Amino acid sequence: MIHFYHVHQSYQRNILALKDISFDCLRGEFVFLTGASGAGKTTLLKLIIREEIPLQGQILVNGQNVSSIPVNKIPRLRRAIGVVFQDFKLIRGKTVFENVTFVLKTLGIDLKERRKRAYHVLKQVGLQHKTNAYPLELSGGEQQRVAVARAIVNDPVLLLADEPTGNLDPDMAVEIMNLFSKINRRGTTVLVATHDREMIRRMGKRVITLDKGQLIHDTGSQMQIEET
Ligand SMILES: Nc1ncnc2c1ncn2[C@@H]1O[C@H](COP(=O)(O)OP(=O)(O)OP(=O)(O)O)[C@@H](O)[C@H]1O
Ligand SMILES: [Mg+2]
Repeated sequence: MIHFYHVHQSYQRNILALKDISFDCLRGEFVFLTGASGAGKTTLLKLIIREEIPLQGQILVNGQNVSSIPVNKIPRLRRAIGVVFQDFKLIRGKTVFENVTFVLKTLGIDLKERRKRAYHVLKQVGLQHKTNAYPLELSGGEQQRVAVARAIVNDPVLLLADEPTGNLDPDMAVEIMNLFSKINRRGTTVLVATHDREMIRRMGKRVITLDKGQLIHDTGSQMQIEET
């Protein structure tokens, strides 16, 4: 599902944000990405969705070489990927319902179906009663849960989350992780960047550790079958 081969990334000359990163993440895996602040977690996620292009190396996502896909194919790549950003990126002028179903609307899915899907995902994150609220009327944790609902509403093949539980109380954090786990069991590949060691330990999934841009540890794939 995700293939990194000797990937380097840099924002400033002579300073590498990622150094020679190679790993494979199979379809259906659940992987944590961890490491200190500045280690390169967000950079790695940005490369997967082609928000950035690597300085060097190859990245395949869902069978596509993300550096070389034409610009007009980028929306299609991103539609297959659900993303929960570190800063949520909710649209202030739109309600929770509109934020969650924005992509569905662009795909031409009718209002009745959009309502049905929004209700379903908002219920999963415990926010069905906030459907008509605006982001600024919500707490940080609620906004984060809206971002999670939006990321899963279109049944993505890959779910990326950047510190998705940073603003949540411990119980809600566990619930969101359990929701990710449930989505993963239904077949979605999940990659979660987090500092939360306790959460990582509790979940018992594969862990990739970055340190100053280098991949220093990978507990390895837990999948029994090779990807075909
Ligand atoms: N847009 C940018 N311009 C310049 N440098 C950047 C930019 N984005 C990230 N960096 C640098 O790249 C390195 C990796 O940053 P990145 O955001 O990937 O870290 P991170 O592991 O996500 O950290 P955090 O846990 O704090 O979110 C850091 O040294 C950071 O300062
Ligand atoms: Mg980050």
